Amino acid sequence: MKAFTKTKYGGPEILQLEEVERPSLKDDHILVKVIANSANPADWHILRGKPFFARFSFGLFKPKDKILGADFAGTVEEVGNYVEHIKVGDRVFGETLKGGAFAEYTCAPANVCAIMPEGIDFPKMASVPVAGVTALQALITHGQLKEGESVLINGSSGGVGHFAVQIAKAYGAKVTAVCSSKNIGFVKTLGADQVIAYDKENIHQHDGKYNLIIDTHGNLSHKDYKRMGQRGVMVGFTTLGHMISVLLNTTISKFPLTQFTAEANTKDLETLATLIQDRKIKVHIEKIYSFNEIPEALRYIEAMHTKGKVAMIWESADSSRDIDNEKKTETANIV
Ligand SMILES: NC(=O)c1ccc[n+]([C@@H]2O[C@H](COP(=O)([O-])OP(=O)(O)OC[C@H]3O[C@@H](n4cnc5c(N)ncnc54)[C@H](OP(=O)(O)O)[C@@H]3O)[C@@H](O)[C@H]2O)c1
Repeated sequence: MKAFTKTKYGGPEILQLEEVERPSLKDDHILVKVIANSANPADWHILRGKPFFARFSFGLFKPKDKILGADFAGTVEEVGNYVEHIKVGDRVFGETLKGGAFAEYTCAPANVCAIMPEGIDFPKMASVPVAGVTALQALITHGQLKEGESVLINGSSGGVGHFAVQIAKAYGAKVTAVCSSKNIGFVKTLGADQVIAYDKENIHQHDGKYNLIIDTHGNLSHKDYKRMGQRGVMVGFTTLGHMISVLLNTTISKFPLTQFTAEANTKDLETLATLIQDRKIKVHIEKIYSFNEIPEALRYIEAMHTKGKVAMIWESADSSRDIDNEKKTETANIV
């Protein structure tokens, strides 16, 4: 099978598209023929081995795992002996943070996969796992968001943010979204009640009050959380120093602030699938690339200004399609 492989740390240029053996099935895994992937900041963090401490998990001097990629959607070719909720031929989506998804076939634990909703295509469902699960767990598992509460979402137009705005609305919250002024219209279409353009208003001086602060971009200081919120969840971080400063302040303060690493599981993926099926979440794909342009897709998302998600397809794909540039309507590229 074809796969994007890496034998050292570096930029997207070090990825090689080569023939490798299909992964072998374990009892609690499923083998999936990959139809689509999506790209996440985690992919280039793992590819570059940055921040450095990540190498304690992914390999100190060189990557432990050869094939890159986390998010996938496809059809099930084989199921392990212990797998109960998935059968051969099912359309599934899931994630494997260990890597292995940027390939024609991937093997993943069944408990990080779920059945795709009817009528939704592979690129859209491949765009859901990492970003959707992170948004759901930030708001609900860790943020304990309740109906009627107010939430400020900093970094609301990217992969995690665009899901977070819609999930918060689906759970009955009042949403204030922070993004650049070019994305104000986009986050309003997602349901945001108020929008703050970070290039027009200094978020570090914003004096609004919210029940919950979610920071996907990762530039809010501990003071910002305390000034604006009753509790907070840090999803991303801009610099290591910034993250350490926020976490150190958290240890000496009573302000409830959580930093977490999202963990996929079938239940959360099913919750997201239901929200998508019920049209409460729209999956916005800004660009679709062919599988052989996966390095290009990673280069694009590394700027951290993706509008929604970037997806890659393994079938009937010969060149990248920039949906925005084709001037398709907002509704044409969302579920
Ligand atoms: N904790 C976890 O388990 C976990 C899981 C997944 C992701 N993450 C992290 O979460 C972060 C976001 O991931 P993602 O997939 O959503 O990335 P993404 O798709 O690249 O989105 C990044 C967003 O940040 C916004 N942004 C850029 N500068 C900003 C600023 N100064 N103020 C506010 N927003 C700004 C961008 O909006 P504009 O284009 O409008 O500027 C863009 O929407 C990454 O750091 C990622 O590593 C953490």
